[in-house]
Amino acid sequence: MMLYKNRIVNDHEVAISPFDRGYYFGDGVYEVFRFYNGALFEKDAHYRRLERSAEQTRIPLPYPIADIDGNLAQLLRAEKVTEGIIYLQLTRGEAPRGHAFPKPPAESVLLAYCSEVGRPLQAIRNGIRVIVRPDIRWLRCDLKTLNLLPNVLAKQEAVELGAEEVFFHRSGIVTEASSSNVMLVKDDVLYTHPANHLILHGITRAVILKLAFRLNLSVREEPFTLDELRHADEVFITSTTAEVTPVIELDGVPVADGKPGPVSRRLQGAFEEYVG
Ligand code: PDD
Repeated sequence: MMLYKNRIVNDHEVAISPFDRGYYFGDGVYEVFRFYNGALFEKDAHYRRLERSAEQTRIPLPYPIADIDGNLAQLLRAEKVTEGIIYLQLTRGEAPRGHAFPKPPAESVLLAYCSEVGRPLQAIRNGIRVIVRPDIRWLRCDLKTLNLLPNVLAKQEAVELGAEEVFFHRSGIVTEASSSNVMLVKDDVLYTHPANHLILHGITRAVILKLAFRLNLSVREEPFTLDELRHADEVFITSTTAEVTPVIELDGVPVADGKPGPVSRRLQGAFEEYVG
């Protein structure tokens, strides 16, 4: 089943046009939600980010958030899944190819589906390997748009090198990863890139910062360099799918002693409790 426009339909009833601007321009935005025990996690934050991505890219949101929320709940009930993710995307709709917005405007196309996905327990427990590459993306990484080619190519390079994620840097400043945010711990202080136009304002990132304050950890939303990254006591990523996943190797070199560290473990524990 899928949410297509404003209705829950069978997959075969979805008919996306080859003239959809999402298809030929990547002219759209998206969200990835997680649900635990059948309930969407931090859904209001995801809706706010969707509204912001849509507004800043000037794609009209065709239905009120309350309708979308009701439909997503119905989708989860129809699919009878309790643990997984919902992928939702919104495009500027169907129109003959031309860079400027269609006139009159096309009807935006909203689509969402859910997949059963378990928590990545092995990565959470044992950590992952990461490579580092230049951040060649545009300067509005705060918008969750469909234009993911730099992320896709970088992730593929990581996979081919036996790693699980890629960190991006701009002139030596670490921004984020191809599909997650980056945090490091040095001398008991937690550092992460400020939530500006150079990173996606991760919802898991915000939850972890909130939990870090509750645990009385010192937190600094400040840029850090590749050199600081390589000398960190602990490094981890955060995302809807990865939760809090420790990084144990950077470009083939162990992070500290090559094992997930105590602050990462405390935040993982706090996150599990928060999820409930
Ligand atoms: N990725 N940075 C980037 C570039 C991302 O694509 C994501 C999420 C994040 C973490 O954001 P959040 O905590 O809100 O999931 C950071 C999703 C999961 C994806 O594209 O599949």
